[in-house]
Amino acid sequence: MQDLLDLIHQRHSARTPYDSSRAIPQPALDQIVEAASWAPTAHNMQNFEIVVIDDPSTLQAIGAIETRTSPVFLRENARQLSASVEALRQRRTGVIASMFPPAWREPDADFEAIAAAEPAALLSHSLQSAPCLLLVLYDARKRAPASEGDVLGFISLGCVMENMWLTAQSLGLGLQILSVFSSEPVEAALRRMLGFPAHLKIAYACRLGHPAEAHDYVRVRRPLDAFVHRNRYGGEGPI
Ligand SMILES: Cc1cc2nc3c(=O)[nH]c(=O)nc-3n(C[C@H](O)[C@H](O)[C@H](O)COP(=O)(O)O)c2cc1C
Repeated sequence: MQDLLDLIHQRHSARTPYDSSRAIPQPALDQIVEAASWAPTAHNMQNFEIVVIDDPSTLQAIGAIETRTSPVFLRENARQLSASVEALRQRRTGVIASMFPPAWREPDADFEAIAAAEPAALLSHSLQSAPCLLLVLYDARKRAPASEGDVLGFISLGCVMENMWLTAQSLGLGLQILSVFSSEPVEAALRRMLGFPAHLKIAYACRLGHPAEAHDYVRVRRPLDAFVHRNRYGGEGPI
């Protein structure tokens, strides 16, 4: 049990560059997708497909796709930022502001103007020399029975994510989720490039590789008594 909790603690977003000269060994890829296949999914719908991309020329072509930041992302992102490590440690949710450009950090900024002024970014900036990308697609036709808005389907995709992430961590591989891949323009460009059909949408991408640097950032969580309730909501007591 301790081993499992250690692995859960150690799993982290590996946002540093990866060593592009170190491919992911096939047995490791096999284990990661095997772990995905055993994820719990609502009604066992198995509503996902995974495209493993490790061909360097395909990765390069993906890296040349342009993205734009939306004002909605900027506004909602700014609310989750802590200006210092100390502030993050106190708040215990969200992320550190220094991950983002200075113009993005002020919660009351004019985000329409900031987004309009931002030059397009290339996906290579997000890929950061990753030798492998896992593209997780979902099939909205495989909705669990009566799941309004496919909520149960999305929860299932999270289970797939965690299974793969824990497996990558246990293999000593870095993994970072890249939500930018599910934006509409990126999805359209990738659909053309990779040929996946219209009924499949991108849930998220996982950047996978051997981190070229050790990760060095503060990870915070709420204390258990901030979200665990005993016997009734708001109920106190040892958990
Ligand atoms: C659905 C989902 C989307 C995420 N999207 C991104 C992303 O686009 N870029 C990123 O660096 N991290 C992304 N993350 C990682 C979270 O920011 C991260 O898990 C959280 O800050 C806690 O840090 P930790 O993973 O190191 O524990 C995502 C995580 C989830 C579950």
